[in-house]
Amino acid sequence: MGKALDGVRILDFTHVQSGPTCTQLLAWFGADVIKVERAGAGDITREQLRDIPDVDSLYFTMLNHNKRSVTIDTKNPEGKQVLEALIQKCDVLVENFAPGALDRMGFTWERIQELNPRMIVASVKGFGPGPYEDCKVYENVAQCAGGAASTTGFDDGPPVVSGAQIGDSGTGLHLALGIVTALYQRTQTGRGQRVLAAMQDGVLNLCRVKLRDQQRLERTGVMKEYPQYPNGKFGEAVPRAGNASGGGQPGWILKCKGWETDPNAYIYFITQAPVWAKICNVIGKEEWATDPDYATPAARLPRLKDIFAEIERWTMTKTKFEAMQILNKYDIPCGPILSMKEIAEEPSLRQTGTIVEVDHPTRGKYLTVGNPIKLSDSPTEVKRSPLLGEHTDEVMAELGYSPEQISALRTAGAI
Ligand code: COA
Repeated sequence: MGKALDGVRILDFTHVQSGPTCTQLLAWFGADVIKVERAGAGDITREQLRDIPDVDSLYFTMLNHNKRSVTIDTKNPEGKQVLEALIQKCDVLVENFAPGALDRMGFTWERIQELNPRMIVASVKGFGPGPYEDCKVYENVAQCAGGAASTTGFDDGPPVVSGAQIGDSGTGLHLALGIVTALYQRTQTGRGQRVLAAMQDGVLNLCRVKLRDQQRLERTGVMKEYPQYPNGKFGEAVPRAGNASGGGQPGWILKCKGWETDPNAYIYFITQAPVWAKICNVIGKEEWATDPDYATPAARLPRLKDIFAEIERWTMTKTKFEAMQILNKYDIPCGPILSMKEIAEEPSLRQTGTIVEVDHPTRGKYLTVGNPIKLSDSPTEVKRSPLLGEHTDEVMAELGYSPEQISALRTAGAI
């Protein structure tokens, strides 16, 4: 079966996490992703957080599936020529170097245009144009600068970063959308263009509801669904809301049976208005369904803390899975707090290809997250990440280099 991006060739100049998540998605959709790495070293993540000596780390293998790896010294004049040949052959160049690195290599937008006017140049940077544009940025810097950290955590504690890599993987996702959009526009214009996804912007886009709340706060001075209401104080900026829901349906994380010893024996419980009567029945507080102090969402808002405490008395008598089963019978929205161990062992995620076991020549078998986006006409087959420079000769031959030229370039240290 064909793949959605068959025939699209990507010059993948990405490293660490943000860029590689983007090009991995494109590879899963069928693009030929040629990862250019520095000879001898490669993407720095190959050796970061290693669990097996001298073997590519899980950090690297889980972000670079379905790609080919070539090693080129792009600061060597002959290496530069190889890169020029690649630029002429590819549709998209994706990079997430520190600001200015590509220009310093000699590959400015103008130079790339000269070589290939159809080329789409896609970049992840920490910040867009402005006071911080020259800064290097990693995941948590973006979470802090994009508004996520100031709005995450509990009111009486410091800002907190999330385990979800919204700065890196989130921005990689944004960039991938920019790339396929630019490819689509190119079918009309014949021209390439630059695509920029700044990590601060990507995080802020995911924190859209918090900018919504900032403006609500400025207008009304209070946000009734926040745990600060009615007893706490609101300041000038959106406060941290603990585990409160970001939407109009109040929710909280509640203890379940076994919470004393299992750090994940909890459930997220949403007191969705249409099922309020059912919630009252399940927890044995039938009278709340008609009591004017509890019967309407507005009446419940100042009492949410006590309401959740009462619901928790019920959830603590059930395991999170028992509670899930009972509550779903009544269409009460809830979600168990799943540990990574439970997720790794979940058979339904294996069946859908969301968790995949991959075999690797030096590492052996390992688990990875497969493609979370399922296309009915372009199924994803997750293939192991490449060894460093594994495809150098193959790609060089495709570019028209003879075996003699390849070995001369190798001797010169260009590849
Ligand atoms: N051959 C020769 N040199 C190469 C090369 C190759 N194949 N590939 C990269 N290089 C060089 C670059 O030209 C650059 O050199 P220069 O600084 O002399 O111009 C250097 O290697 C590496 O670049 P840099 O990106 O600065 O790496 P770093 O490890 O110092 O910084 C980041 C890492 C992530 C902080 C930085 O790349 C960054 O801010 N990226 C944008 C934001 C981002 O994606 N962050 C999230 C990462 S998950």
